[in-house]
Amino acid sequence: MIRTVSLPDGTEVPALGQGTWHMGERKGAARAEAAALRLGLDLGMTLIDIAEMYGEGGAEEVVAEAIAGRREEVFLVSKVYPHNASAKGVPAACARSLKRLRTDRIDLYLLHWRGSVPLAETVAAFEALLAAGKIRFWGVSNLDAGDMEELAGAAGGGGCATDQVLYNPGERGIEFDLLPWCRARSMPLMAYSPVGQGGALLRSRALVEAGRRHGATPAQVAIAWGLRQPDVISIPKAADGAHVRENAAAASITLSAEDLAAIDAAFPPPRRKKGLAIL
Ligand SMILES: NC(=O)c1ccc[n+]([C@@H]2O[C@H](COP(=O)([O-])OP(=O)(O)OC[C@H]3O[C@@H](n4cnc5c(N)ncnc54)[C@H](OP(=O)(O)O)[C@@H]3O)[C@@H](O)[C@H]2O)c1
Repeated sequence: MIRTVSLPDGTEVPALGQGTWHMGERKGAARAEAAALRLGLDLGMTLIDIAEMYGEGGAEEVVAEAIAGRREEVFLVSKVYPHNASAKGVPAACARSLKRLRTDRIDLYLLHWRGSVPLAETVAAFEALLAAGKIRFWGVSNLDAGDMEELAGAAGGGGCATDQVLYNPGERGIEFDLLPWCRARSMPLMAYSPVGQGGALLRSRALVEAGRRHGATPAQVAIAWGLRQPDVISIPKAADGAHVRENAAAASITLSAEDLAAIDAAFPPPRRKKGLAIL
């Protein structure tokens, strides 16, 4: 059973979803990728994170295949490139994404990262999409606390539903300021790369040993670590069915004070401001 997280207006979304970066890049892999996503849906990971960037539209096509016939179960998050984030560019990019996704609405539409278009212009374009029913919520990604402050001060900026940022035990700079900033505004944070892209993080002793105590893998510990907070949404990507099953089961793991202390010792929480880490 996967619990939910509240968006600022009270709408509930699953705390654990599925990422799709690198899906849709190879035609031969598309069928297996869609099957992995469908398995994830069956296991309750019904929030799917996409971007027009992933596979240059290919990931959205894979997701369309995965959700065919079950759109109502799914909360779809997609992202617009900064170079498309203008008054004219946003509606055009959204229309292309909707076409590839074979749906009539994106549930949450994010600015992928900040580019040269003024934030206020992007917000106005998002608000127009909301009014037209093309999206249900909008938000941002890779914006640090200072950018969020600027966004909040822009006309309509108070409507932002989330900030999607890099967050895992090895990258926890946001705990110093961005996470408290969002929390003070009842804005959940979406944690990307929660298993550190399957790399060195998963070989860390603190995660391996905590895993042993729970009969769990280090990746499951990393996901459970992100989900220890009630306002964090975790979006691991897995094209391998065994990974999908593992990740879904991580939602049922509660780390102990001992586990958390060992992770803090290996990966200390920030004591001062760090620039936002970005992939
Ligand atoms: N907004 C942004 O700028 C931004 C940036 C990065 C990511 N994202 C989003 O966040 C999602 C997740 O981040 P990510 O893809 O960078 O990294 P991630 O989810 O931390 O790691 C994905 C990698 O880890 C492997 N993996 C997944 N579950 C595993 C498990 N249980 N055990 C061992 N390995 C496992 C996957 O392998 P298999 O695929 O072979 O299963 C894949 O190679 C992305 O897919 C994307 O949707 C957003």
